[in-house]
Amino acid sequence: MEKGARSRAMTNRKLTISIFRYNPNDPVNKPAMVDYQVEESERMTLFMALNKIREEQDPSLVFDFVCRAAICGSCAMLINGEPSLACKTLTKGMPDRITLVPLPFFKLVGDLSVDTGTWFRGLNERTQAWIHTDKKFDPTDGEDIMKNKTAQEIYEAERCVECGCCIGGCATIKMNNQFIGAAGINRVARFMVDPRDERTDGQFFEIVGNEMGTFGCIGLMACDDYCPMSIPLQNQLAYVRRNMAIAGIKG
Ligand code: SF4
Ligand code: FES
Repeated sequence: MEKGARSRAMTNRKLTISIFRYNPNDPVNKPAMVDYQVEESERMTLFMALNKIREEQDPSLVFDFVCRAAICGSCAMLINGEPSLACKTLTKGMPDRITLVPLPFFKLVGDLSVDTGTWFRGLNERTQAWIHTDKKFDPTDGEDIMKNKTAQEIYEAERCVECGCCIGGCATIKMNNQFIGAAGINRVARFMVDPRDERTDGQFFEIVGNEMGTFGCIGLMACDDYCPMSIPLQNQLAYVRRNMAIAGIKG
């Protein structure tokens, strides 16, 4: 072994990764935390550690990933109790013992995998997340010009990767499972700010002006802390709530 390689190997930590294991489709299977030992490597992420465990120790381990680059939102889980993306989380700086459990609230598929897709599809239907306009499409028309500031505000909201971290960390949704969550409020804000969407505040009020929507939030703001895309969810909530309060007064 090369001298450099030996000194690098000597510095590698042994991590204990304690993982929630459960197959809800197996009637005899019981939920359990199972410990795995992994040698930490340079720039290791939790996704890499999970992959290593699956490749070298237990091929039955279930977890989700697609992009490995914090783009698809699939690998969200509770990491030492806090919602985050496994592919974005470096093991460096973490304690020697790391606990991984699936995001709460969503339906468990198995081990660390949950079904966020069904919930987000329902959210899109509930918020009618498309441009509502009576304008007829004319391919000979020029581009719709939009102010840079407006485009930037739409882009900000569009950065949501539907990971579910804001939902998994939300205290309101634990008490009220019909609550639309920060991702839902953010989705409404995205269309409210878009000048191409002709819905009135009164129409948005029908969707989100109630206890299941913007008035249900108890304001602990974990969503803002946990969003891996750093979307300013607190600002989005304040924006939608202010508009809905005015719409509610006007009736
Ligand atoms: Fe994830 Fe942030 Fe979108 Fe919530 S708002 S689903 S935390 S990216
Ligand atoms: Fe896509 Fe982690 S694998 S966000």
